[in-house]
Amino acid sequence: MVSFLFITDLDNTLVGDDRALETLNQKLDRHRSEYGTKVVYATGRSRLLYKQLAQEKSLLPPDALITSVGTEIYFNPTDEKADPQWMQILSQGWDRDEVCAIAGHFADLVLQPSYEQNSFKVSYYLSEQAAIEVLPRLESTLSKNGLQAKIVYSGGRDLDVLPRQGDKGLAVQFLRQKLEIVAQQTVVCGDSGNDIALLQGEERGIIVGNARPELRQWYQQNQTDYRYFAQTHYANGILEGLQYFNFLE
Ligand code: GLC
Ligand code: MG
Repeated sequence: MVSFLFITDLDNTLVGDDRALETLNQKLDRHRSEYGTKVVYATGRSRLLYKQLAQEKSLLPPDALITSVGTEIYFNPTDEKADPQWMQILSQGWDRDEVCAIAGHFADLVLQPSYEQNSFKVSYYLSEQAAIEVLPRLESTLSKNGLQAKIVYSGGRDLDVLPRQGDKGLAVQFLRQKLEIVAQQTVVCGDSGNDIALLQGEERGIIVGNARPELRQWYQQNQTDYRYFAQTHYANGILEGLQYFNFLE
């Protein structure tokens, strides 16, 4: 057994089945102390909502933390401030006010609470039905206005507008390079739309069996030998995938 970099989404990926979470935690914790494996969470939640979840569920203390759909990276999870170098990268070509002004014209977009907004993330609720028509229209209006923004729709409910350089996947690339860990020794796990970027690289990818349709569909079109679609759900699916890739016994 050798050390690896374990990166997982939280809601409906790591978290969803408390007993399975307990089993996986034990194995990962042992692996971390024996081999120096690193545990990183990559969540759509703000740091505030992450802290809330960490109080409700038994989560291993992570070695690093990526929050707000990749717009914040904490190399030390107890740091109060997110990595400034990453923010500098995100700020290139990003005009938040302009993004808000344009999105404001779309009546179907309902702003999420203020604690889920940050300088590099504008988030809305959008119904699945309205999304079919609104997503392409929003995308083309943003680009017609010369805005280099990225739109990410997850779980049939959440719409995030992010800087061009910002998403969970690009945050992982940045983190992985800082930690000097190769893609082959890195595992990423997810269940929904905002995890597509996470799974897009050459890291070993695990999609849990309960994945949302948007991620299933993406997987259908992007199958490779380093992506694994688990049969089981939540933390059980992660464990199944880690065993498939021989990271855990
Ligand atoms: C989390 C965040 C929310 C975001 C969603 C999808 O639920 O709290 O702001 O829109 O993830 O990325
Ligand atoms: Mg999720």
